Amino acid sequence: MDQNKITVPDIKARKKSGAKISMLTAYDYPWALLVDKAGIDIILVGDSLGMVVLGYKDTVSVTMDEMIHHIKAVSGVVKRSLVVGDMPFGSYNVTVEKAVENANRMMKEGRADCIKLEGGKNMAPVVSAIVNAGIPVQGHIGLTPQTASALGGFKVQGRSAEAARALIADAKALEAAGCFSLVLEAIPAPIAKIVTESVAIPTIGIGAGADCDGQVLVTHDMVGLFDRFTPKFVKQYIKISDEISGAILQFKDDVENKRFPEEKHSFTIKSDELDKVSGT
Ligand code: KIV
Repeated sequence: MDQNKITVPDIKARKKSGAKISMLTAYDYPWALLVDKAGIDIILVGDSLGMVVLGYKDTVSVTMDEMIHHIKAVSGVVKRSLVVGDMPFGSYNVTVEKAVENANRMMKEGRADCIKLEGGKNMAPVVSAIVNAGIPVQGHIGLTPQTASALGGFKVQGRSAEAARALIADAKALEAAGCFSLVLEAIPAPIAKIVTESVAIPTIGIGAGADCDGQVLVTHDMVGLFDRFTPKFVKQYIKISDEISGAILQFKDDVENKRFPEEKHSFTIKSDELDKVSGT
């Protein structure tokens, strides 16, 4: 293992040290290279893959094979970041045995460093079986996109005292089951703060305010590459799709107006060889 590689114990230790954890998604070689080079602590190969790369309407239909294909592309290039493989819907909610089998595939075939799965205390037995199999697990509570249909849509969670108490109970159950960290998605900031203070493992927020131990965003949202919608919690640092569209239009214009290729983009042949060809 690379000496600088971030490990699960390093991430857990951040709870004590207070150094904030940065986490971004990547799904392929060029993006993994960029995110790793920038020194981001955790790269999540999220099932958001389905929406931002594969063009599906949600994450539900993403398969294990699709996830593994993309995790491999990421884990092969990453030198420093911890690589998290996201368990897709249907891969861990059937039987505990199936969940352990699929988590093993993420590690063995995808070469992820650990896995993430969605769900609260109902998922604690699954988490503990996977952890017992030697695979570190990151939990994900609050808005869990895979079960958005059961939640009534992509809505902020934990807005009533009862729902907030349930979230705190979920966080504690996942910690007891062995999760090494928790993603908190779309939770009111004061509730995310209470959840963060209720557990000894780090929380990583997405739409969960500034008091989480770290922050995660979907990279394609952050750089403006996914344009179907931008959630309120996204900070868009650049609108890279405009830059890319501009370049594509310039190429089209150059081709149509014979400005590309120029001599410097073309190959030559010795004139005596060329003469032999033109003579034929
Ligand atoms: O799939 C994903 O990108 C995620 C993040 C939203 C945390 O689960």
